[in-house]
Amino acid sequence: MEFPKGFVWGAATSSFQIEGAWNADGKGPSVWDLTCHDTDQIHARHTGDVACDHYHKFRDDVALMGEIGLRAYRFSVSWPRVVPQGVGAVNAAGLDFYDRLVDALLAAGITPWVTLFHWDTPLGVHHRGSWLNREVHQWFGDYAAAVVDRLGDRVAHWMTLNEPHIFLGPGEREAFHPPGHKLGHRERLLAAHHALMCHGRAAQVIRARTRRECQVGWAPIGRVKVPWHPGIFDGAGGDGQPNAADVEAARTRQNAVPAKDFWNNAWLADPVVLGRYPEDGLRLYGDDAPRPLPGDMELINQPIDFYGANIYDAEVFRAGPDGQPEHVPFPAGHPQNALRWYIIPEALYWGPRFLYERYGKPIYVTENGMTNLDWVDADGRVRDPQRIDYTGRYLRQLRRAATDGTTRVGGYFHWSLLDNFEWQCGYRERFGLIHVDFETLRRTPKDSARWYAGVIASNGASLQ
Ligand code: FCB
Repeated sequence: MEFPKGFVWGAATSSFQIEGAWNADGKGPSVWDLTCHDTDQIHARHTGDVACDHYHKFRDDVALMGEIGLRAYRFSVSWPRVVPQGVGAVNAAGLDFYDRLVDALLAAGITPWVTLFHWDTPLGVHHRGSWLNREVHQWFGDYAAAVVDRLGDRVAHWMTLNEPHIFLGPGEREAFHPPGHKLGHRERLLAAHHALMCHGRAAQVIRARTRRECQVGWAPIGRVKVPWHPGIFDGAGGDGQPNAADVEAARTRQNAVPAKDFWNNAWLADPVVLGRYPEDGLRLYGDDAPRPLPGDMELINQPIDFYGANIYDAEVFRAGPDGQPEHVPFPAGHPQNALRWYIIPEALYWGPRFLYERYGKPIYVTENGMTNLDWVDADGRVRDPQRIDYTGRYLRQLRRAATDGTTRVGGYFHWSLLDNFEWQCGYRERFGLIHVDFETLRRTPKDSARWYAGVIASNGASLQ
């Protein structure tokens, strides 16, 4: 069975994770450059200085995308490459790179999907207080204007922020991403409020300055909740039907703000799509909740055309004896990826479905994939049957959502095109469809890349 006609098949990357050329052609430093260079917080002190050297090798990479048959490619623009200090002067040479990339993609018949921010905050913005400074939404808007003015004649698909949950959680509260803050709740929520204003400001700027019809979305994460049913933990991760009470328990939990952290969907997504902070979150935070100034919520609540969802794993819930959602832990030995994230294919059924129910926007899975201990075999081939199995199982669940009348699903972007710099884990983790040797920079398409080509060519019909 195929996916709906026009389904968008893609792969995703981000600037810091693949580009390298960290100080080339006028690029300024980001907080990630600083952390890599000046601390020992990154695995084996790896840096983004060279990464996959995509900055210089993008033509080869576009050719590889063509071999896979990608219809779309999601990449991010580096804010400090375009505005080296984060505020002020625009670096035309930085924009030239994205200009060349977009032209190469279009020439190959691949639609560019551009993310404006995937965590590489300019150091100059950090020094001005970053997300804690209300003015950040003006700086981000100015940066967005520079990008849209240059690319807005050709790019028709935009995402504002990638996963504010992560740059605000691990970055501003849990301290394992830069800038390594351990903010209290009041300041953490203020930073989040300003980040959401950045989203809104960028959405306005894109619509005001685009020179072609375009679609605007964002790419949040948020832990999906899946309803328990018998067989859910079996190998095939089943199509079993949960009962109505368990579905309701998972739905309730998916939409709740049960704890003072960013690992939920509603705290950040409700303001963006519904124009208000969720009631349960406001009760939970009490006096620590942000006090929006007049106009803030309208700015945050700009219309969006699609909801990007980065989905890797999920938590399982059922109705407890008191009818309240009850967490069901994974059984011992349940399958995990190399980072020990649990594998739960139904995340791609219930995740999009619950998000569509609440927010009513077409869902695009803007990231999904797995890290695996891949290597180049003696015969030069990279065999990664686990990635094929993982992706096949997840895609079958996405197809179910897209075809059973419950959910509008527009596309799927595999994370990632290339093995790349996996943040604090450096190059230890391999998420790519294409293997990268980080000494020689040699690219080797894995078995999964060839397999994915078949999935795309058949619009998903090749999935059993
Ligand atoms: C997501 C990030 C992406 C990558 C994957 C594995 O949270 O958006 O950059 O690190 O996880």
